[in-house]
Amino acid sequence: MEERLVTDEVFEEEVSVEGSVRPQSFAQYIGQHKVKQNLQVFIEAARLRQETLDHVLLHGPPGLGKTTLAAIISSEMNGELRTTAGPAIERAGDLAAILTGLQPGDVLFIDEIHRLPRVVEEVLYSAMEDFCLDIMIGKGESARSVRLDLPPFTLVGATTRAGALSAPLRDRFGVLSRLEYYQEEDLIQILQRSASILEANLDDDAADEMAKRSRGTPRIANRLLRRVRDFAQVRGDGQITLSIAKEALELLQVDAKGLDAIDHKVLETMIGMYRGGPVGLETLAASIGEEPSTLEEVYEPYLMQIGFLERTPRGRQVTYAAYSHLNLEVPE
Ligand SMILES: Nc1ncnc2c1ncn2[C@@H]1O[C@H](COP(=O)(O)OP(=O)(O)OP(=O)(O)O)[C@@H](O)[C@H]1O
Ligand SMILES: [Mg+2]
Repeated sequence: MEERLVTDEVFEEEVSVEGSVRPQSFAQYIGQHKVKQNLQVFIEAARLRQETLDHVLLHGPPGLGKTTLAAIISSEMNGELRTTAGPAIERAGDLAAILTGLQPGDVLFIDEIHRLPRVVEEVLYSAMEDFCLDIMIGKGESARSVRLDLPPFTLVGATTRAGALSAPLRDRFGVLSRLEYYQEEDLIQILQRSASILEANLDDDAADEMAKRSRGTPRIANRLLRRVRDFAQVRGDGQITLSIAKEALELLQVDAKGLDAIDHKVLETMIGMYRGGPVGLETLAASIGEEPSTLEEVYEPYLMQIGFLERTPRGRQVTYAAYSHLNLEVPE
């Protein structure tokens, strides 16, 4: 019980910090230049034609700024942002209620859109394509279909798994944007921006080091900043120096490449139990006690990005680079 309380507190604190450092405009949104430039052009064009922006699908690993972009899009389009998520919409009627409540120009943000139930998804097709809704009224003999007009709106969908989206749904998005892991320079800027909002004194070399260990992910950069700031306050005079940052990251079990305890467990399990692979996703997930989807969506993408893990037709395989990072001998 006590442990849960502590976790909730940390979580709440994190949510509020995320809120305070979350960029509110394209100008504040660092990196992702291609995605940003494209969206800015499409938004500008839609504004000039006085139309709504085409539907946008944002995909990419967690914490790269999909929700943040959805909010920026709605504010740039001067529409209200309505937020929901795939698993929250259980029946077709739930979606109908949301859609009929929209005002012209609103942005409907559906997070985890790959988790929409199929019956709900089908309602979305005509809503996206023709801004209308076909609903059945009555039962049996007297049942008839009624067509309702909807206000023009923009759907922004977000997903960590674009591959899990059905083709008919994916094809109805006019803009598909893939967010990539951030470059180190971008993460440095993000850390510096967040530090100034949080009124933390961050040394340049400490920012460099933290950027290296943030897994290309702004959410992780901000989380590390928060924790390192705590260390600086308690162990030092509040100044985040390189040595404080290193010490804190060590205690947080974040290694030089940004890998955490679970990443290590993944690699070490693959090496220790499966001789480096190939091993199937489900088997590996069971061995380390994580959900296969968490492994696939949260841990694997970064391990693959840095070349520590490969997907082969026979399963996942650890690379030589991973052995060398872990200071282990490659087996014969
Ligand atoms: N381009 C950016 N510049 C500065 N900060 C950013 C940027 N993108 C994201 N962030 C920061 O990272 C945090 C996480 O971003 P966000 O919640 O938008 O990620 P997400 O892609 O929606 O993640 P998830 O898949 O888990 O929903 C935000 O609170 C924000 O502070
Ligand atoms: Mg999000």
